[in-house]
Amino acid sequence: MKTLGIDIGGSAIKGAPVNTATGELLAERHRIEIDKSMTPAAVARVVAELAAHFKWRGPIGVGFPGVVEGPRIWTSANLHPKFVGCDAAKLFGRATGCPVAMINDAAAAGIAEMRYGAGRNFMGKALLLTLGTGVGTALAYQGVVVPLELGHFTWKRGKSAEKHVAASVRENKDLSWKEWGGRLRDYVGELERLLWPELIIVGGGVSAKHAKFFKFIKPRARIVPAEFFNNAGIAGAAIWAAEKK
Ligand code: BGC
Repeated sequence: MKTLGIDIGGSAIKGAPVNTATGELLAERHRIEIDKSMTPAAVARVVAELAAHFKWRGPIGVGFPGVVEGPRIWTSANLHPKFVGCDAAKLFGRATGCPVAMINDAAAAGIAEMRYGAGRNFMGKALLLTLGTGVGTALAYQGVVVPLELGHFTWKRGKSAEKHVAASVRENKDLSWKEWGGRLRDYVGELERLLWPELIIVGGGVSAKHAKFFKFIKPRARIVPAEFFNNAGIAGAAIWAAEKK
């Protein structure tokens, strides 16, 4: 029931041992900064450093910010392009000496939230958004989480939507909460037109500041912050590794 959850993001790798029966983090999470210039081998060394920090021996679940199929990564919008095609379960497994299960980061967050967080006991259609370096998306229905890639929905001037609405864009462009919230309103409105979720759960570091920007989004659905805030990806990756068939 104890699994190490690791959440690889565009600017840091975070991890902690997780009680997979409750989603609870069993130790203070450890965070190591990374960036897009780091190759898969360099990132694997950081993953190993993180596992060593907890003296970890046992299964590890790793959330990655890209398309994941089985052990393999197929896209890497905000990390090194060499990740594309990489068997990350093998790479991180060798680096740590532990069995590794891979999952998309937003799907991981979705699993934690639907199981033990803001979506627990909710059986309708829920859209999970993670706002960070990029925009992660997943849909849940009857509690089953499906990874999506709607951060790459084509938006103004043909760019991926995440280039306009990610939390990193607000910081880098110094947008006010109102300006950024207005962008999110347009984006979420478009997603609602296509998906009609009943519930929208917003995660990522910025979700802790939801009071500053939720008021601008004005969705049809009920919108709530992730209960795990920025730890949803860690908890969900661990749960995934513990339950994966
Ligand atoms: C990636 C997604 C990921 C999201 C959040 C996007 O750029 O394509 O797979 O879930 O960022 O990290």
